[in-house]
Amino acid sequence: MRQRLNILATFNIAVLVSGGGSNLQAIIEQIKNQQLNVKIAVVISDQATAYALSRAQSAHISHHVLLAKPGESREQYSIKLAALLATYPLDLIVLAGFMRILSADFTQRYANKIINLHPSLLPAYKGLNTHARAIKNQERYHGASVHFVTASLDAGPVIIQEKVLITKTDTPQSLKTKVNAIEQRILSKAIKSLSEARQ
Ligand code: GRF
Repeated sequence: MRQRLNILATFNIAVLVSGGGSNLQAIIEQIKNQQLNVKIAVVISDQATAYALSRAQSAHISHHVLLAKPGESREQYSIKLAALLATYPLDLIVLAGFMRILSADFTQRYANKIINLHPSLLPAYKGLNTHARAIKNQERYHGASVHFVTASLDAGPVIIQEKVLITKTDTPQSLKTKVNAIEQRILSKAIKSLSEARQ
């Protein structure tokens, strides 16, 4: 998917977001601290008010809002997204809190080039509200996973995951905070290992 010749061998990533962008910020910090040798070529949000966009702006990263039109199908949105992505030289697409499901065509086109961050120890707790469900089921551990994106939701091969103990006093919010710390760590680790594997 390296649509343009990338003569400097920079490992270019796109980060797709929908919300606060704490995970985007973690990647930005790792790059600044020279712990991660990649370039964020573009940030794309499907939400106009996502705070992640301000983070991209502050870091002088090219960013776009790509809204879904009312009634637009997953396929139509994915075609628009692919067209926008094709204008950047990219080695990897990172879904960091991107809350939109992409089409099977899209995921097949970018097979092994898209990763997603998910707040659970996959294959457990695919989908939404993972923290509340893990507490309700009295799980001992929860955690986060980074996995390759395939046509099946939250089901692609896991690259890295890390767990955290659920304590008796945990609420969905407190557990989310603990898992978020893990997310920031493992997402950067996954990007680093994929970028180094490319060298
Ligand atoms: C993360 O918890 C991620 O696992 C989930 O959405 C959240 C995004 O957080 N899919 P942020 O926007 O990076 O702060």
